[in-house]
Amino acid sequence: MILTPTMTGLASPDPLQHAFKVKSAPHAGRSGSRPINVTPELWQQWWQQPTQAQQRALYIHIPFCRKRCSFCNFFENGANPQRISDYMQQLCQQLMVAANSPFAQSQGFDTVYVGGGTPTDITASEIAMLGEAINRFPLLDNAEVTLEGRLNGFNDDKWHNALEAGFNRFSFGVQSFDTEVRRAAGRFDDKAQLLQRLSTLSQHDSASIVVDLIFGLPGQTMSIWQQDLQAVIDSGVHGVDLYQLIGLGGTRIDRASEKGKILGTDSSEFQADSQTRAQMYAYGADHLESNQWQRLSSCHWRRDARERSVYNSLAKSGIEILPFGAGAGGSIHGHGTMNARSLTDWHQAQQQACTLNNAASLSTPKNVPGMMLTPNPSAKLDAIFKRGLDSGELRLNQLKSQQVNQLRPLFKAWQDHGLAILSNQALTLTLAGRFWNVNMQTGLFEFLAKNPQ
Ligand SMILES: C[S@@+](CC[C@H](N)C(=O)[O-])C[C@H]1O[C@@H](n2cnc3c(N)ncnc32)[C@H](O)[C@@H]1O
Ligand code: SF4
Repeated sequence: MILTPTMTGLASPDPLQHAFKVKSAPHAGRSGSRPINVTPELWQQWWQQPTQAQQRALYIHIPFCRKRCSFCNFFENGANPQRISDYMQQLCQQLMVAANSPFAQSQGFDTVYVGGGTPTDITASEIAMLGEAINRFPLLDNAEVTLEGRLNGFNDDKWHNALEAGFNRFSFGVQSFDTEVRRAAGRFDDKAQLLQRLSTLSQHDSASIVVDLIFGLPGQTMSIWQQDLQAVIDSGVHGVDLYQLIGLGGTRIDRASEKGKILGTDSSEFQADSQTRAQMYAYGADHLESNQWQRLSSCHWRRDARERSVYNSLAKSGIEILPFGAGAGGSIHGHGTMNARSLTDWHQAQQQACTLNNAASLSTPKNVPGMMLTPNPSAKLDAIFKRGLDSGELRLNQLKSQQVNQLRPLFKAWQDHGLAILSNQALTLTLAGRFWNVNMQTGLFEFLAKNPQ
C-alpha cells in the first residue's frame, strides 16, 4: 500500500492552513483515454444516431476579450467587432445545423452555458441571434441557460435581448469590488458602478445573477476581502463563486512573481500567501453561511433557490456536453472532445465543402480541428469522486464495497489529518477538506493509480 503526503495531506494541528503546501491545479482528473482519428463517415454517424445520455448540456465558447486581465490566462483573441461578427455568424449557422440532427433531437438538454472569454462583449443583436440558434435545440422546460462575462459594456439592450432570447442566468466576473485592486488587475469599473448595476439586474423577478470573486489578488488584504464579501451580500445577487487565485502560467501576475515581484496597487504590495488564502476562504464560507447563504459546492454559495448552478454541478457529474466554438471542450457519445483554439482553422473548417454529399450531411455540423478521445473507461466512477468531493460529501452507497475498502486507508488518513469525517454512510469533508478538495481529488486519483485493485 503506497500512501504519500500528496495523497493524504500532512498531519498538522491546523489542516486548513497546512494540510497541503499550495492548491495543485484548478481541477483534478485522470484519463484512461487515447486520441482517436474521427473519419468524416464516423463523424456523420455520430450526429445521425440517438444519444445514450440521460442528462446533457450545450457548451458554447466565445473566445474574445477587450483586455487581458493580470490574473487570467483565458484570454484567447482581442475583441475586434468584425472578427466577432464573422465568428458569431458562422457559430450560429453551425448551431442551427447541429440542432437539426437526430443526435441533438434525441434527448432534451438540461442546461446551456455560453462561456469565454467574454460572451457579454457580443452585440445585443448577436445575443438575440445566438438565443435563436440555442432555442432550436430541444431544451427542457426548466433548462438553465447561462451567459457568462463582465458587467462592463453589458448595457440594457443586451440585457433585454438576452432575457427575451431565453437566457435565465448571468455569471459576471467581478473578482474584487475594491476599486484599487480592480485597477491593478486591469478591470474597468469601480465599486460604485458594479454595485449599482448588480442591484438593478438582481431585481429581475426570475433571472439568477451570480458573480465570481477571487481571493489572493495583489493588493487584496484580508480587510478588503471582508468588504468584498459584504458587497456581494449587499449587491442583491443570487449566487457567488469564491475562487482562490491559481498561478495558471503566462499571466502578468505569474511573470512578475517569477521575477520575485508583486503587481500590487498604488498603495499596497501585499499578496496573500497560501495560509492567508485559507483564512480568506474560511472567512468567506462563514460570512456567507452566517448570513443564511447555502453552500452548493466547495466554492459556490446561493442566497436562495432561484440560483441552481445546474451546469456546474452536472458538468462535474460527467454528463454529455456538446461543445461548439473554437476552444470549446465537451463530449460526444462518451468521446471527450477539445476543439482547437485557432480561429483561422476553425473558420476554414466551417467553409470546407462536405466530402460526403448525402442527405445526412444537411444535419451534420462541420467537424473542426481539435482532439477526440476514446471513451474514458472509468468516467462514471471518476464523476462520482469529483462530484462528491467537490460538493463536500461523498456518499459511500454510490461505490461498490470493495472500492470503499480499497480507499479506506486514504479516507482514514484524511480523517486523521482533519480533512474529512468518515461514517458508514459518507465521507464528509471538513472546512479544511473543502478548501483543499482539488488536492484531495488529485491525491485520490494518484492513490488509485499507485494501488490498483
Ligand atoms: C473564463 S473567466 C471569464 C470572466 C469574464 N470574462 C470576466 O471578465 O470577468 C471565468 C472566471 O475564471 C476565474 N479566473 C480567471 N483566472 C483565474 C485564476 N488565475 N485563478 C482563479 N480563478 C481565475 C475568474 O473568477 C473569472 O471570472
Ligand atoms: S477575466 Fe475575462 S476579460 Fe479578463 S482576460 Fe480573463 S476571460 Fe478575458
